[in-house]
Amino acid sequence: MFAIFGSTGTLGTALREIIKDGKFHTRKVWDVENTDGLEVFLKNFLEGVNTVINCVAYTDVNKAEFERDKCYKINVEFPKVLSKVCGYYDITLIHISSDYIFSGEEGFYTENDKPKPKGWYGETKRISEEVVLENCRKCYIVRTSWIFGKNGRNFFSIMPLKLLKNEDISTHDEQIVCPTPAKFLARMLVKITEYPYGIYHLTGKTPLTPLEGTILVKDAINSKSNINLLKPNLKIRPRVSVLLDTKIGYKKPPFVESILEYVGEAGLHRRIADQDR
Ligand SMILES: NC(=O)c1ccc[n+]([C@@H]2O[C@H](COP(=O)([O-])OP(=O)(O)OC[C@H]3O[C@@H](n4cnc5c(N)ncnc54)[C@H](OP(=O)(O)O)[C@@H]3O)[C@@H](O)[C@H]2O)c1
Repeated sequence: MFAIFGSTGTLGTALREIIKDGKFHTRKVWDVENTDGLEVFLKNFLEGVNTVINCVAYTDVNKAEFERDKCYKINVEFPKVLSKVCGYYDITLIHISSDYIFSGEEGFYTENDKPKPKGWYGETKRISEEVVLENCRKCYIVRTSWIFGKNGRNFFSIMPLKLLKNEDISTHDEQIVCPTPAKFLARMLVKITEYPYGIYHLTGKTPLTPLEGTILVKDAINSKSNINLLKPNLKIRPRVSVLLDTKIGYKKPPFVESILEYVGEAGLHRRIADQDR
């Protein structure tokens, strides 16, 4: 049986849709900033579980610089305890990490490249990889990039919904990233246990800037939105963080096809068709 931690987030929501018989942690079940009694809670919660997927994270890259302790507690302290408990009970742990562990100077990264994060969010994700690998033998680290899907709070989840309402979008063309559909990632995660333990890169296929991605969706759905350019803080973000998969050789989902599928599933294609009549 699977246990999903952070089941209300972008990836957790996609996992909930495909894993029917699982245990689903939410903030209401346990706020992971609370470490008093955490081990006991985990021992009880993981009864009967053989695979854990940890999607809990502090993901606000800008705020992380000012809320360092909070970010560390959620991104490092929690996985540390979780991985210890998984290690002790011989449970397989799939821990999600990020392209933000890389500096973005080299641009394209394999699973073996050395992490060198620029910001605190990336640094906490880097440390989380170390602690999890140290504590749990049956462990997968899955690094991904710019996830989008239902319940998403991040750029590629929200941007298409704004375009549909012809609302202004603020974005930039200063990073090159591979947006990753949550649905695809969720499907891959439940299969990853067929592979040896270790570090994996799972992302979408198409490297692009957030501006390029926005224009592709805007044109595809005939949106009237204005696009405003902003300056991201590249002191805390990688400029080019394309993750290369050298281990699985899976078929990566192309950007336009997968993002339009996401838009369609939100039941919004029909609204566009209505507007066009
Ligand atoms: N989003 C991306 O573009 C991206 C890119 C690369 C890697 N990743 C990694 O992928 C994983 C999943 O990301 P995501 O996009 O699904 O994140 P998300 O949408 O921000 O969801 C984060 C989850 O963590 C939970 N959480 C946060 N603080 C908590 C706390 N104190 N106690 C209990 N639960 C807490 C949230 O609960 P609430 O719903 O209650 O807030 C939510 O379920 C993370 O490890 C992230 O670092 C994400």
